[in-house]
Amino acid sequence: MTSMDTLVSLCKRRGFVFQSSEIYGGTGSCWDYGPLGVELKNKIKHVWWRDFIQQRADMVGLDASILMHPMVWKASGHVDHFTDPMVDCRECRHRFRADQLEETAWVHYCPATKGNKFTIPAGEPCSHCGARRTLCPDCGKGELTPPRQFNLMFKTFIGPVEEDAAVTYLRPETAQGIFVNFENVQQSMRRKLPFGIGQIGKAFRNEITPGNFIFRTREFEQMEVEYFVNPHDIVEGRPADEYWHDRWIEDCLAWFRRYGLGAENLRLHEHDRGELAHYSKRTADLQYRFPIGWSELMGIANRTDFDLKEHAKFSGKALTYFDEERKEHVVPYVIEPSAGVDRALLAFLVEAYREEEVRGEKRVVLRFHPELAPVSVAVLPLLKKRDDIVRTAHAIRDDLSRHVTAVYDDTAAIGRLYRRQDEVGTPYCVTVDVQTVGDTDKGEAADGKVTIRDRDSMEQMRVPASRVVTVVGELLGGKRWADVSAQIGRSS
Ligand code: GAP
Repeated sequence: MTSMDTLVSLCKRRGFVFQSSEIYGGTGSCWDYGPLGVELKNKIKHVWWRDFIQQRADMVGLDASILMHPMVWKASGHVDHFTDPMVDCRECRHRFRADQLEETAWVHYCPATKGNKFTIPAGEPCSHCGARRTLCPDCGKGELTPPRQFNLMFKTFIGPVEEDAAVTYLRPETAQGIFVNFENVQQSMRRKLPFGIGQIGKAFRNEITPGNFIFRTREFEQMEVEYFVNPHDIVEGRPADEYWHDRWIEDCLAWFRRYGLGAENLRLHEHDRGELAHYSKRTADLQYRFPIGWSELMGIANRTDFDLKEHAKFSGKALTYFDEERKEHVVPYVIEPSAGVDRALLAFLVEAYREEEVRGEKRVVLRFHPELAPVSVAVLPLLKKRDDIVRTAHAIRDDLSRHVTAVYDDTAAIGRLYRRQDEVGTPYCVTVDVQTVGDTDKGEAADGKVTIRDRDSMEQMRVPASRVVTVVGELLGGKRWADVSAQIGRSS
């Protein structure tokens, strides 16, 4: 598996992700998505929205505001419970999450070896003196303060006056925007249970120990669904909430598999009683084998009727659903699949990254699913000094760009251009050469064909320029290379 450092370096070099405010020395744990990163991110969000919202008859979308009424966060429990235990080193002032100290490698000055310094793996004792960590894991010298609870929400003020009455928070999850709009959406869209509301948007958490590139940041994006079910319904012999929880786990797993994550790199982690959030009846995390080890990619929780009941209590509005058949008002149960966009992007990057040897040379290639690749097709002129080749290549790119993400590049020789596109995961390259436009000096007629090259197999086929948009569309839509090539062969 590739290392995080390799990915961070590729991401910077090829315009995927830059450190935020880099010219000022960077902002801790904030990252900016560059030209290719934003395309990749938008494509992930686009396919998620299409597959989970637009294509499902039981789903609708929402875009709620980030700043909400402060009572939302009181009702949701975030003001009182959204905390992590924090400790500080009295010497080096580094901060840690108290509950993660045992997962951190630690520095130790060993008395059994005249005070030699060792870095000891997380959770292990010193192999020389047998001591376990008690001091700061970073400097190995400072005492740690007793744990204090630290609220992870970013506080801000609505309006010009910084007074208590104006305090609100940047949302730490998109979910609450959905709960408080439950009635608006259900009634305006005349929805019957079960139905779901999906939302993609920014969330903010003042994490004590952010890090591991875009895995844990203070500003990130979520793709969340709140799926409302009638707790009195029985589906396939089971309570509706339990049935739909399993269905969403299967659907989410299948979705990540469909866009390229390997089965061997995905697993489910069931929360035990101690791990369960206060609102949850059951939570299963989908974990991915990141370079930092198995870690949470997304969570799928059964939040029961907790949120709607709390908002009803705090707002005084009855957030219920009228069950026509039973002639009763019920508070729906909620199944919540919640994925981080940035973590999904990191997982797709990790999975796509390959170093291969081609004719004795190293080739770095990102084997993205064609629908996720930041650039769908690159149009490359074989000779940039020939105006007719360059003009034709630009015209083909312009045509393609009406349908897919297409770029033009003539800044190197063709072999180099192919390698560059491989390195950013472009599934197809279209090359315009002398045969395409002909050579009047040599009396060679134009054949009007271009070469399409496949990123993964590096196979090539000649295609009439007039059919490039259709052929590229078919390939990106999942038609097999061999079938398209055979079809071109038959028709030309
Ligand atoms: N509404 C439920 C909720 O927010 P969560 O497990 O705290 O649940 C859901 O977050 C997902 O959001 C996580 O699985 C992860 O993908 C992403 N996420 C959470 N905190 C994050 C952070 N600090 N940086 C990046 N992504 C984060």
